[in-house]
Amino acid sequence: MVSLGYRLRASVPATGPEYQTRRFEARALAPSEGQELPIGSKAQMDLNIRGRVALVAGASAGLGEAVALALAREGVRLAVAARRIDRLEAVAARAKQLGAADARGFSLDLTDPASIAAMLDGVRSAFGDVDIVVLNGGGPKPGRFTDLTIDDWDGAYRLLLRSMLVLLDALVPAMRANGWGRIVALTSTSVKQPMETLALSNVFRTALVSALRTLADQVARDGVTVNSIATGRVDTDRLRSLYGDDQAKMREAGAGVPIGRVAQPEEFAPLVAFLCGQAASYVTGQTISIDGGLTRGLFG
Ligand SMILES: NC(=O)c1ccc[n+]([C@@H]2O[C@H](COP(=O)([O-])OP(=O)(O)OC[C@H]3O[C@@H](n4cnc5c(N)ncnc54)[C@H](OP(=O)(O)O)[C@@H]3O)[C@@H](O)[C@H]2O)c1
Repeated sequence: MVSLGYRLRASVPATGPEYQTRRFEARALAPSEGQELPIGSKAQMDLNIRGRVALVAGASAGLGEAVALALAREGVRLAVAARRIDRLEAVAARAKQLGAADARGFSLDLTDPASIAAMLDGVRSAFGDVDIVVLNGGGPKPGRFTDLTIDDWDGAYRLLLRSMLVLLDALVPAMRANGWGRIVALTSTSVKQPMETLALSNVFRTALVSALRTLADQVARDGVTVNSIATGRVDTDRLRSLYGDDQAKMREAGAGVPIGRVAQPEEFAPLVAFLCGQAASYVTGQTISIDGGLTRGLFG
């Protein structure tokens, strides 16, 4: 169950059609003064996705791994995909311990269309139709606009945009036919506030968000929701590769965030899991920041 820091209890049975009204009683778990709520400890909300098939791309580490494990706690049948199969096997084993109905790793290189097709074949033959997909993978090469070559732009297009369009092309028809689906893309604050040294991210992640916003309207009446996350600074291999792998650099990266520190992946995952759940049935077409207040726009 997802951790939200407060208790929620459904007043209707946890089954039934998408449009069934659900009412919840919420009680704040206010920590006593000076006492902090431990991250990820108060798991109280049932997202009603037990047994659903969830595919998380880029799940061998970092944000994808954390999201996969959050979904595992909800009892999904979990497919985790990336290039490092040994790490995926470890994530799948942990997912089963946490409550996944099943969990398996699938080899995937997002830059290779044949690899995407083989991964999808494997997932479908193991689990059937995918109900939930988390679109995620490696970040692009850093660089200012004028530092980049046309090959860099081509490569980032294949990694960040084309790969996700291929996944959507393959997965959306079954979601629509089944009348239920959840699509969540992990992007970056660069889609709201371009970053000078991440030009490839600025361009292709914005294109992906725009594609998803367009898709959201088309599939909304089929029970399929489509949302994006604008990710701030989270302590993962990717952040360390951009900011350097020492504590001083991490503190520096955190100092620029209103919350005053970078996030841990476990703080990032619960909202993504929530968007994958039944409870988020009326949230679609959104790009939601998880960034500790980093994006300064009024609607950031
Ligand atoms: N962490 C942050 O602060 C932050 C902020 C904004 C945006 N983001 C973006 O969010 C995404 C996830 O970031 P992260 O921090 O979790 O990074 P990470 O710890 O480096 O993890 C990246 C994941 O993507 C997989 N991956 C990389 N290239 C792939 C490929 N060609 N095909 C399939 N899988 C691939 C990696 O697994 P394998 O190596 O096993 O393939 C790994 O599982 C990235 O796009 C990153 O740029 C991160």
